[in-house]
Amino acid sequence: MKVFITRKIPDVGLKKIKDAGIEVIEWNEKRPLSQPELIEYSKQCDALLSAGINNIDAFFLNECKHLKVISLHSVGYDNVDIAAADALKIPVGHTPGVLSGPTADVAFLLMLAVSRKAFYMHNKIMKGEWLFFEPTADLGIEIKGKTLGIFGLGNIGYEMAKRCVGAYGMKVIYHNRTHNLQAEKDFNAEMVSFDELLKRSDVLSVHSNLSDETKEKFDKSAFGKMKPSSIFINTARGGIHNEEDLIYALQNGIIWGAGLDVTNPEPMRKDNPLLTMPNAAVLPHIGSATVETRNAMANIAADNLIAGLNGKRLPFPVNPEIYVSTN
Ligand code: DGY
Repeated sequence: MKVFITRKIPDVGLKKIKDAGIEVIEWNEKRPLSQPELIEYSKQCDALLSAGINNIDAFFLNECKHLKVISLHSVGYDNVDIAAADALKIPVGHTPGVLSGPTADVAFLLMLAVSRKAFYMHNKIMKGEWLFFEPTADLGIEIKGKTLGIFGLGNIGYEMAKRCVGAYGMKVIYHNRTHNLQAEKDFNAEMVSFDELLKRSDVLSVHSNLSDETKEKFDKSAFGKMKPSSIFINTARGGIHNEEDLIYALQNGIIWGAGLDVTNPEPMRKDNPLLTMPNAAVLPHIGSATVETRNAMANIAADNLIAGLNGKRLPFPVNPEIYVSTN
């Protein structure tokens, strides 16, 4: 059995895979893998372990319908055409649960960084612009007691709410398809319409999946309904906001600030105006980038892979529907 791994994963996962007798082909080039290369290598293997955002669309799946399993080294699976995988009965695994806390940490970090213009101020020092004390220059805003709005309150949103309620006594409102009863019980969180979320949030943090429904949900019209004093945070997927509209909203004082761990597109170009704006903070998609979390993700990805190659049900399938018998 042979697996193609699209980026080096932590040793703990790699060892588990090799110990299971699976041969590994690993992509180690210092550049992104193209889709023809993804297809070429996957064709040589029985399974794919996809680390990073590879385009696993219907074309790829039909070219590689022989794959026994696709194991994602991520919780998000918006890069996979699940309907096409279902049609071909290819199990797709992901890594839920283990990255909720660390991703919420990054959302919280960005919220504070934006509220105090931290990245911009750091850049001023780097440029030799820390010259004298200016009591009224570059003032931030405080978070205490303000309203946190969560778009997509699942596990990561819950962790963000926990941090914001614990640290700053924030009021939590959220917009979901279904109630999050745990968050309602623990934080007195209030479910609201999308419009109300936009209008009432002082900090609006995005924690939903990227789907047809959420694609560019935060556009000119959405930003236009937010408070001029509000902060927009996205640690989910860059495709959920329209980046040009976000830049316009920041440049024109429509919203106060923005913190992004995900951008649209990724990687972000180094001349993107968001990188030099006083009220913006951008990170290169590091939500899950801790030793503990990446090890846990590698372990789960290895478990999904090994189960799939052995013809067993994946411990964490994205598409459990393929296991339902049609007889
Ligand atoms: C995930 O697991 O989906 C994170 O965004 C890291 O890619």
